[in-house]
Amino acid sequence: MTRSLIVGCGAYLPSQVLTNHELAARVDTTDEWIVERTGIRTRHIAADGELTSDLGEQAARAALASAGIDARQVDLIVLATATPDRTFPATATAVQAKLGTRQGAAFDVQAVCSGFIYALAVADNFIKAGQSRTALVIGAETFSRILDWQDRGTCVLFGDGAGAVVLRAENGACEAAATAPSNARPRGILSTHLHADGRQHDMLYVDGGPSSTQTTGHLRMKGQEVFRHAVINLAQVVEEALAANHLGAADIDWLVPHQANRRIIDYIARKLALPIEKVVLTVEQHGNTSAASVPLALDVAVRDGRIKQGDMVLMEAMGGGFTWGAALARW
Ligand code: ACO
Repeated sequence: MTRSLIVGCGAYLPSQVLTNHELAARVDTTDEWIVERTGIRTRHIAADGELTSDLGEQAARAALASAGIDARQVDLIVLATATPDRTFPATATAVQAKLGTRQGAAFDVQAVCSGFIYALAVADNFIKAGQSRTALVIGAETFSRILDWQDRGTCVLFGDGAGAVVLRAENGACEAAATAPSNARPRGILSTHLHADGRQHDMLYVDGGPSSTQTTGHLRMKGQEVFRHAVINLAQVVEEALAANHLGAADIDWLVPHQANRRIIDYIARKLALPIEKVVLTVEQHGNTSAASVPLALDVAVRDGRIKQGDMVLMEAMGGGFTWGAALARW
């Protein structure tokens, strides 16, 4: 059978850093409130004229370099974003042009904060179906452009950034027995699990769009409702991913969660009885970068040597829609 190996990762953060103290000079908030309720201290903000595709391109170049793969070998680009350069064409095609390639398919996936998990699942399925050999999966966002900077309930939460991974088809990968110990499982993406509940689409949304208002609009959120659904849905989907692979939380080397809020992450770690040392945390420095948060966190932990070849990595995310999902990979 064919399996997707994660052969490289990369990330990019805009140079401008916005601190809680700087935000407190703009809206009625404090560093203490933001840290206590969210765990966020700083976030990066894209420069004027710096587009989602620019961030995505930088992350993609870093991922390709770490994989030792030339952009001309890529036959699929799936880019997850809720903040595209333009309504159309897909930001993935802008990244493709910036990488100087023209082969294969390139398209966007829109699942907001779950976007990277959705994009990873799409690319993994393309590879398993034999339709792609080398795929770039990118999460890239410029949420600073859709925030209402007068709304203290939302503008303190988000930041800009991009992360990417390179997937390569591994032919003839052997199946391990369902009950094999985790270190005997094959490397690569073991399973992905996606969910959506569109009844909740008014909990977290942007109040604009080409079909409704013909404006870009601003992010709106019922924070407490989002929080309540996030802990339930994420706890359920990580259990689903573990059960599907006949593994327990003790088999997980690293949990790489969506970085929305430290309290949500702590809840999931507690629920799994996973020591917090096994959780990759970037929310303090990056804030919530939506679809970019999981690949940004992956890149941090790979580069500082925590995630090593053979490690069992559990990723999860939840976002507007609601959408949510998890992916389990042996690195
Ligand atoms: N600074 C100071 N006070 C604030 C701020 C702020 N930045 N924002 C809200 N407040 C005030 C409110 O006005 C309210 O004041 P009031 O009691 O006088 O009316 C008070 O703080 C409490 O507001 P709540 O909304 O009840 O605060 P809560 O404890 O729920 O925290 C938060 C708000 C942080 C948004 C929380 O609900 C949350 O994290 N929700 C999840 C949202 C999320 O993560 N969204 C990301 C996208 S989805 C995802 O990625 C999972």
